[in-house]
Amino acid sequence: MSCFSVTGGKKLSGEVTIQGAKNSVLPILAATLLCRGQCILENCPRLRDVEASIRILQSMGCLARWQEDALVVDTAQMSEPVIPDELMREMRSSAIFLGAMLARCGEAELSYPGGCELGPRPIDLHINGLRQLGADIEENGGRLRCCSSHLTGCDIVLSIPSVGATENLMLAACGAEGTTRIFNAAREPEIVELQAFLQLCGGEISGAGSDCVVIRGGKQLHGCTHRIRADRIVTATYLCGCAAAGGEIFLRGTREADLAAVVTVLRDTGCRIQSGTDGLSCQRNGRLRAVSPVRTAPYPGFPTDAQSVLMAALLCAEGTTVFEENIFENRYRHVAELRRMGGDIHVLGRVAVVNGVSRLHGAGVESTDLRGGAALCVAGLAAEGCTQVGGIHHICRGYANLPGDLQALGADIIWQHE
Ligand code: UD1
Repeated sequence: MSCFSVTGGKKLSGEVTIQGAKNSVLPILAATLLCRGQCILENCPRLRDVEASIRILQSMGCLARWQEDALVVDTAQMSEPVIPDELMREMRSSAIFLGAMLARCGEAELSYPGGCELGPRPIDLHINGLRQLGADIEENGGRLRCCSSHLTGCDIVLSIPSVGATENLMLAACGAEGTTRIFNAAREPEIVELQAFLQLCGGEISGAGSDCVVIRGGKQLHGCTHRIRADRIVTATYLCGCAAAGGEIFLRGTREADLAAVVTVLRDTGCRIQSGTDGLSCQRNGRLRAVSPVRTAPYPGFPTDAQSVLMAALLCAEGTTVFEENIFENRYRHVAELRRMGGDIHVLGRVAVVNGVSRLHGAGVESTDLRGGAALCVAGLAAEGCTQVGGIHHICRGYANLPGDLQALGADIIWQHE
């Protein structure tokens, strides 16, 4: 089986350009369904989830091709608004196509996305919101059939600020007549980027980044050229890598403002992080310090996606750090693997207590999910000896080239093919 083989104990040194953000590009690919004309997405990361989205677009008759680092999408020839089962299964976030398909075609059919390794992944908020916009939605035998002869703008209040539901409803509302206001909307940078993309295409939309997004629908959108912003979770991963291994690195193309909560915690651990015009530098000398409890929360709180990589970095910190996971149920599956490397971690429900140890040792470990897998690589950078991280298909869902990037930062990591 392929694995990433990390030999730890080496300080990091070097620089790397941060890839485009997975969580930005996925909703934007769905948004291209609303546009007549070609959309050019520059700095588009080549990831498994992006390839799966391309296959979904192609299965509906759309054109998508790579042009160096840009993905060029033309949805003019879109035929059937149906996503086959096997493609739904390839990517959990494929429900994000629902709102755009409805807005474009007045109907949509796809299978119900099941659970995932993070626990159940319901889409009730997406469905309720779409119903409020006037969609008829039937669930039958695992398939969702949606239709609407006429979507009409309205006020929608989300019970929790779901990222996916906010995005799905923004896209559906672009095709609705009149004004839609989404209250208690998610405020993540990816929502702001989706709004920027829609505005570039001629959409009338405002408020993203606040808790109320306002969409004036019914406009025909056109194509555009948009540059995908740097991935804040990949940035957080490499900052945590430096925190774990020590040394000094520079991450090009990324912004502190998008990950202020992570940077604040890392500074508390003793890392020196500085923002420049073109990126972030991180320096760590001496032992890390444990920090006050880290509680995951919707943006601008501490991101759930960075919980595992920060935990990996703090395994050798002086003192005890408490984590509280408040977004997903099943997000401590990396803990058992980190323990195999000598981590002292105790989990009780949504709380994990990490007692810093003086050293970690390399081990054979298995990725259980995307960010959990990245955390094992981060821990591997700090461990004595060799860590072999299996299950790397999880990691490749979100990192375009994790071993290559870490090599550029001076780490001893190789991709061992079977
Ligand atoms: C997105 C990100 C993911 C990140 C998460 C939280 C993408 C492709 N994925 O996922 O990396 O970890 O935000 O920042 O952008 N919920 C419901 N009903 C719904 C929708 C969500 O109960 O209809 C719950 C979920 O189970 C979860 C919480 O709300 O407990 C947050 O989920 P949500 O913000 O929707 O996350 P995703 O959009 O799936």
